[in-house]
Amino acid sequence: MTEPTPAPEAHVKAATQFYITGGTLPRDAISYVPRHADEELFDGLMQGEFCYVLTSRQMGKSSLMVRTAARLREQGVTVVVLDLTALGQNLTAEQWYDGLLNLVGRQLRLEDELEDFWLEHDRLGPLQRWMRAVREVVLTHISGPLVIFVDEIDTVRSLPFSTDEFFAAIRESYNRRAEEPGLRHLTFCLLGVATPSDLIRDTHTTPFNIGRRIELSDFTNQEAAILADGLRRNQNRNLFLLKKVMHWTGGHPYLTQRFCQVVAADSSVQSGQDIDAVCKALFLAPQARERDDNLLFVRDRLLRSEGDVAGALDLYGDIWHKKRVPFDDTNQLHDNLRLAGIVRIYQNYLKVRNRIYDHVFNRHWVSTHMPDAELRRQRRAFRLGLLRASGVFALVLITGRCPLRPLSYTHLPAPNSNERTW
Ligand SMILES: Nc1ncnc2c1ncn2[C@@H]1O[C@H](COP(=O)(O)OP(=O)(O)OP(=O)(O)O)[C@@H](O)[C@H]1O
Ligand SMILES: [Mg+2]
Repeated sequence: MTEPTPAPEAHVKAATQFYITGGTLPRDAISYVPRHADEELFDGLMQGEFCYVLTSRQMGKSSLMVRTAARLREQGVTVVVLDLTALGQNLTAEQWYDGLLNLVGRQLRLEDELEDFWLEHDRLGPLQRWMRAVREVVLTHISGPLVIFVDEIDTVRSLPFSTDEFFAAIRESYNRRAEEPGLRHLTFCLLGVATPSDLIRDTHTTPFNIGRRIELSDFTNQEAAILADGLRRNQNRNLFLLKKVMHWTGGHPYLTQRFCQVVAADSSVQSGQDIDAVCKALFLAPQARERDDNLLFVRDRLLRSEGDVAGALDLYGDIWHKKRVPFDDTNQLHDNLRLAGIVRIYQNYLKVRNRIYDHVFNRHWVSTHMPDAELRRQRRAFRLGLLRASGVFALVLITGRCPLRPLSYTHLPAPNSNERTW
């Protein structure tokens, strides 16, 4: 007897349960793809090193954190997970550090002890109060190592006061380990969408040059193979379809999960062309570009950044045109593009991150979003006109004859249609 085919709704439900698109993956999610960074972060924190994961959105930072926290707990490490978005933005320094301490207190069931300490030490500044509470209350109440994860660390940039001293205090807690052995038990891990210099500029007090940077990369084909299991065809077909999905997503964590989820829910998708059609409907069609969260994040990060948007688009345009742009970690524009998640580093050159972005954020997209695009085109045309006019002038000087009527600004030729419009 053949097995009954599941009802379409059941099929969709199963696919939805396997794949999770958007938001932190629970620690036991079956579609969690372990990467090199999983081992690196776990090892770093087990060794008590300050670790940080600073990268673009939807790369899996929070999912990695939840999973690593669970692994650390299994090893007897006490773990605190702080999500800074929970604290809010419109706060004084005192409210912010107090809020941070409250979150720690709730997770470790030390609310009363920390509250008492806070109230008894009101003559100290907020940072000192927080740091001393951690050292004198938290570390004395727990035995063994403590790891404090701070997620969404980039939100400190929107606070109305400077948080430089927060980062400096993390560094200091490492520097003082020799004199204060208790501090060896205290380890921090920061995660968010920022560069170290966005968070603190002073190279003498930054903790980022004494810590371990954890690089989160897109899934390799080998790593992503576990995602084939949820596609619900036979094994060979699953692997074939996943390969086609990866061709488009390049292993981007969210895009790959999202794509697989849709393929799993539609059993009529069997061929490479079917996958291309799904990609078109899901990400490439004009309405899809306006709907997908990830595409909107990338777009907004690039276009709404406080930095040099025109410069970033110009550079991206070069990369899109396959110009060789070596990655330079001192170049702010390179950082901007990387944090937007639109490019990746391949053999030390910047490349468009994946085929979906290559189609969506194409030449046309760049030129339409270039600030003052028209103004720049006119200036370029004007410069071109001046160059031509000076060439004619030089010819007149040399030959004593004028080969053409002199060009005036108002008689400039239309810009060459091959000329780049950004
Ligand atoms: N290791 C992973 N395995 C499988 N899918 C993943 C993994 N990491 C992330 N994803 C996919 O990416 C989505 C976003 O993950 P997550 O929220 O952890 O990223 P994030 O970097 O914390 O994002 P944000 O910057 O928005 O906070 C998940 O819902 C999931 O679809
Ligand atoms: Mg997150």
